[in-house]
Amino acid sequence: VSPVSTMKSFIMTTLLPLSYAFQTGRVFQSVHTRAKVEVRGAMEMRTPFIAGNWKENPVTLQDATSLAESLKPLAGSLPCEVGIAVPYPFISAVAGVLEGTDIQVMAQSIHFEDSGAFTGAVAATMVESVGCSYSLAGHSERRSVFGDSDAVVNSKVKKILETKMGAILCIGETQGEFEAGLTNEVNAIQLSKGLSGVSAEDMSRVVIAYEPVWAIGTGLVCPSDTAQLVHESIRAQLAKLYSSEIADSVRIQYGGSVTPDSVDELMSKPDIDGCLVGGASLVAEKFGRIMNFEEA
Ligand code: PGA
Repeated sequence: VSPVSTMKSFIMTTLLPLSYAFQTGRVFQSVHTRAKVEVRGAMEMRTPFIAGNWKENPVTLQDATSLAESLKPLAGSLPCEVGIAVPYPFISAVAGVLEGTDIQVMAQSIHFEDSGAFTGAVAATMVESVGCSYSLAGHSERRSVFGDSDAVVNSKVKKILETKMGAILCIGETQGEFEAGLTNEVNAIQLSKGLSGVSAEDMSRVVIAYEPVWAIGTGLVCPSDTAQLVHESIRAQLAKLYSSEIADSVRIQYGGSVTPDSVDELMSKPDIDGCLVGGASLVAEKFGRIMNFEEA
């Protein structure tokens, strides 16, 4: 191993994540989180990351704050980084409820313009200023229901990264693409387009969520062995786009009908670094169990 590559790997795996933690005031996570370094070696130090996505739920502020309240006792000593993506009107209040816990508040999407005459739009700086530390981009419901193209998703990722927040780029194939054997190709394209123009340095704040569209909200979990293979392929694509050091350091979450019953096995796979959880994140006990996963 050359001194240059050792230095590069030290910068990618230690200095960059540390400087990001300091910038975002989340240094405490290095104490609470269990990096996979113990089992996988320094090149693959990836802190697991469990994220909830409340989508257009719950329907009132009161319901949102009481759901957040009920998560607090379950967030004692977590084995991972945790965030929940809540609807815009609830961000401030939920951030207030969760202050002092290890659960971060995140946005589900942002608009790619900074400000101006864009009725209904919410900027990255707006959600950051009310307490978000991440925003999703490219969730399949944004792509299919709201027409977010790969180019729009890419603009959103870059706009999120202009702030100090992290971006969770969601990718995934449809059922038809899965059945046609196009899974890896579709994900490689969404990944390359979504990350177009994103610098190697900014990749320390990017998380990828692999969410097969056919598994979202359907109760059909992608078998963990299949998901592992897709994650390997996504990581290989990251190595092509950037470098093997970066590919080894980027966290790849699995999403699609994750429950307390499936999380442990999914999290035991070497390339599954976390989960993005929809339906089960609306039930405190279920999300509590998921964020306290135990590798099977
Ligand atoms: P689900 O949603 O867990 O309800 O399948 C996952 C997601 O859309 O992120």
